[in-house]
Amino acid sequence: MKLSSKAVLKSFFSFGAASQLRALLACALTLAAVASAQAPVPDSSAIEAKAHAMLAKLTLEQKIDLLGGVDGMFTRPVSAIDLPRFKMSDGPLGVRTWGSTTAYPGGAALAAAWDPALARKIGESLGKDARARGVHFLLGPGVNIARSPVSGRNFEYLSEDPYLNASLAVQYIQGVQSQGVVATVKHYALNNQEYNRHNADVQADERTMREIYLPAFEAAVTKAHVDAVMNSYNLINGSHATQSEFLNLKVLKGEWAFPSILMSDWDATYDSVAAANNGLDLEMPNARFMNAQALLPAVKNGTVKESAIDDKVLRLFRTILRYGFLDHPQFDPANSTYSVADRAVALKGARESITLLKNEGKFLPLDVSKVKTIAILGPNAYPAITGGGGSSEVQPFEPVSILTGIANLAGPNVHVLYSRGLPTIHDVFDHPNWQGGVQLATFPSADFTGESTVSHQWRIADYAPQNWAPVDSTLRSLRYTTSFKAEKAGKYMVLAAADGGDAYKVLIDDKLIVAQVSAENQVPQSGLIDMKAGQTVAVVADYQPHSPGIHFGLGITNDADLVTEEAKSFAAAADVVVVAVGFNPPTEGESYDRTFNLPWGQDALIEAVTAANPHTIVTLNGGGGIDTRRWLDKVPALLHLYYPGQEGGTAVAEVIFGKHNPEGKLPVSFDRSWEENPSAPFYYPIKGADTSLHVTEPGQPAVDYVIPHVKYDDKLMVGYRYWTTTGKHPLYPFGYGLSYTTFSFANLQVPARAASGSTVSVSFDVTNTGSVAGAEVAQLYVSDPSAKASRPERELKGFEKVRLTAGETKHVTLDLDARAFSYWDESAHKWTIDPGKFVIRVGDSSESTPLTAELTLN
Ligand code: BGC
Repeated sequence: MKLSSKAVLKSFFSFGAASQLRALLACALTLAAVASAQAPVPDSSAIEAKAHAMLAKLTLEQKIDLLGGVDGMFTRPVSAIDLPRFKMSDGPLGVRTWGSTTAYPGGAALAAAWDPALARKIGESLGKDARARGVHFLLGPGVNIARSPVSGRNFEYLSEDPYLNASLAVQYIQGVQSQGVVATVKHYALNNQEYNRHNADVQADERTMREIYLPAFEAAVTKAHVDAVMNSYNLINGSHATQSEFLNLKVLKGEWAFPSILMSDWDATYDSVAAANNGLDLEMPNARFMNAQALLPAVKNGTVKESAIDDKVLRLFRTILRYGFLDHPQFDPANSTYSVADRAVALKGARESITLLKNEGKFLPLDVSKVKTIAILGPNAYPAITGGGGSSEVQPFEPVSILTGIANLAGPNVHVLYSRGLPTIHDVFDHPNWQGGVQLATFPSADFTGESTVSHQWRIADYAPQNWAPVDSTLRSLRYTTSFKAEKAGKYMVLAAADGGDAYKVLIDDKLIVAQVSAENQVPQSGLIDMKAGQTVAVVADYQPHSPGIHFGLGITNDADLVTEEAKSFAAAADVVVVAVGFNPPTEGESYDRTFNLPWGQDALIEAVTAANPHTIVTLNGGGGIDTRRWLDKVPALLHLYYPGQEGGTAVAEVIFGKHNPEGKLPVSFDRSWEENPSAPFYYPIKGADTSLHVTEPGQPAVDYVIPHVKYDDKLMVGYRYWTTTGKHPLYPFGYGLSYTTFSFANLQVPARAASGSTVSVSFDVTNTGSVAGAEVAQLYVSDPSAKASRPERELKGFEKVRLTAGETKHVTLDLDARAFSYWDESAHKWTIDPGKFVIRVGDSSESTPLTAELTLN
């Protein structure tokens, strides 16, 4: 479903509440018959026989009817065999679709915890939350690789490493499915950007797919026995995922022997016959393509075999029979929609994931008894930011913001000063300072041609719903012309926003400063210009609404003046300041990419605050790395929160005041700039592209002006594989995170020789050498210097979170199986081990591995 966050909320409230009520009524009637949560039972001949018997009762048309969903979130019922519809809910951060629920930490946060047992617990809680709502299928986890920090859904996914993703996905899935709920691993496959997601054709070689992008899916199927897989929107080497013979037939259902349901993402089916013949079993949310009109003739004329249709239906039947969906109501009153136990799991997740990236001079933890006044500033301080935007956006019952979390823990003796610190976007558009007002020329054509009608106004603020003018469908393109004068010298921010699908570009003195050109690009765009005192610039904004109505805003404002006087004075008055910045659902979410820079105004906020008070802690929300260059050297402490779920505020307070010792470790390499990320040269192939606006017909998306091919020419060099192979260093490496204590590693034991293909046990000691209890993540990387193929310098192949009291030592043993030493042989098309020398490294990040030993595989 391509949804703006507005649309997501709308759909949430419209069908969520009513259906929940219906579900509750239905449940009330069946309470007596309810069975408690049951783990799925393995296939049996009885199930097979029953599935075939059910199939035998259906006509071809009835079978085809089962290949498409209904009512947004259900499989279709068949009255002829008393088959009810089965209910789905979005995930992966909470059971999202059916009313308020517990919001767990997002995938990036879960990965930062490096704790498979936590993933299992969250999976179990999600399974219980699903049963409390009668949900049969949970649409999660999301396991795509964080190839680039700007990809809009990294926060839902996990990490940049396939081994870490696989380890966590397996536990999450087993947790969900242990409660009698089908988990759905998504988005299969290579959905590593939101930009142009329906049309982007990912071009990746097989080795890159097998080693980087497929292992988490493979483990989900072969180790966790996930019972649903969701295809992605994008194309892979020329075919949409829903019709990819390679991904669906050869790999998923062939090599991995996936026995259950392969569903499409919402409106990710593009061709009836191609999807039917290439492994898609269920088109969601409805049968636009896999319907009787298209498939009956195809079966009759032999382009689709009836046995292929039967296979799809049998997969659905087997799954529902295995889970006993026909034998007991899915609603389980042993679980409740609001659960204190779930809140504890969400809090555990937030605590484990928060990552301390900088702590100069042991600035943290703060001694609460010494703090008299604390200023809590920034747009992300309140209300709570629990997750990003899109179909994973959960409505939690009682989220704890950073403001309330800190105030609660600090108690009545600490004076708390709170200010958002920045205006809202509407404030910027509503209080412009255009010289002599704005001239608006509206054109009846989409391309600024034909006779225009000219009018005058004083602001460009139609972005705010309260300013929306009556819809005039004759307005197809609009040109705003005005000028802006700088009162004083400095940096000025040009800020523009429009609806997703609309197109605009803003020229200052004929230079393009900000633009929205992609069909799915809806993040406010900002750019900085340097101006001299008294300088006047010409401003021209060309805007093309995608649907009737003007939803566009534009403002220019002195960057430093954006920060409120209140925030500056609160910062100056406090002993210590927390500035909570980062992304939120409108700026990072599904169907569009985010920026690498912080959203507009936030860098300026941190600069102004640190100028007023250097005792400043910055907290970040975001799915991965963020540009910190403007202020990092001015702040003593930096915490990455990713999206911590509904209990984030409590966990932040506990970390700041030392009630919880931080233990999160980066699940991605944290780059200095977007340009230094290894995917950057291949991500948006826009260099030298045509930047003129394209004409669109109403109802059609704005045309992307880039070639939609995305070449994965970074190949295996994703994240730390690139950094460690090139010997260069990101700002903070993958696996890195500070603690209030210190750890040491010793006594590495690796056999000198082993047989290729055997399991190799590696052991070592981890000691807490500091004075407080804490947790360390011991990370094991394998290098293969004698490989015939070129391999990344090191690859994560084992890890363990070790909890240690002060002074305590634990002996850790990690087993390395054949895959830990293998690479994908491109000519033989299989996993291969080259006998010879391997190096085992153990440490606390991808760049800090104090223990090293060699091993020879015969
Ligand atoms: C998303 C899926 C989601 C589905 C149903 C799509 O837009 O990509 O992740 O499960 O909508 O809401």
